[in-house]
Amino acid sequence: MRRPMVAGNWKMHGSEAANGALLSELELRLQPEWPIDVVVFPPFVYLAEVARRLRGTSIAIGAQDVCAEPGGAFTGEVAATMLKDVGCAQVIVGHSERRRWYHEDDALVARKFGAALSGDLTPVLCIGETLEEREANRTEEVVARQLGAVLAMHGVAAFERAIVAYEPVWAIGTGRNASPEQAQAVHDFVRRRLAEQDARIAAATRILYGGSVKASNAGELFAMPDVDGGLVGGASLVADEFYEICAAAAARH
Ligand code: 13P
Repeated sequence: MRRPMVAGNWKMHGSEAANGALLSELELRLQPEWPIDVVVFPPFVYLAEVARRLRGTSIAIGAQDVCAEPGGAFTGEVAATMLKDVGCAQVIVGHSERRRWYHEDDALVARKFGAALSGDLTPVLCIGETLEEREANRTEEVVARQLGAVLAMHGVAAFERAIVAYEPVWAIGTGRNASPEQAQAVHDFVRRRLAEQDARIAAATRILYGGSVKASNAGELFAMPDVDGGLVGGASLVADEFYEICAAAAARH
């Protein structure tokens, strides 16, 4: 069975004081025996400190982005090996905010996915349609294209070590989450695309939902058969909310 996962993408939020306060509360409240993976994704500058602090706890850490290149003269970039070096286990690739504001295209996202794997990090591949694309009935076409770029470059076997996050752009930071049925339909579609290439890998791949996940909707979203947890933005900065979302994931099975 797929182990549920809750990922907290802090985006460009936090400070040493705020991170410390949030983590203190989570460390106190999260139950290490819960059968879930909990991962936080702080901004780059806080990774080493947060990783040190979380060592020996049940909370893992990941980065929000990675350079597609393994190292060298790329001012301002951070290599996968460096993320690994400071304690990261995972890295988000292709978040819609990277695609939108930094013009990351499918090919670059696929290269970042490969860089993560080469650096022994688990990529969390974000895919999802805009409101305009959904209203034009293009959701499946868009997520198939985004997923397909990675499949074409790395093959389905790469998904043995990857996580997919379906994040409809219209649901991110808007307070308007996809309904459980809408999320399930796309998760099922993604799993079927993977299954066309390898049924075993498709059945084992975790597909998270992201987009206005909160304590009040996590239970119904995670009750869907193909929703294996959440990639949480705003609510991951509020200890009570994040705790409740993790509890909902732990209650999933
Ligand atoms: P919100 O939970 O704030 O909508 O953000 C979702 C997200 O983009 C997580 O990566």
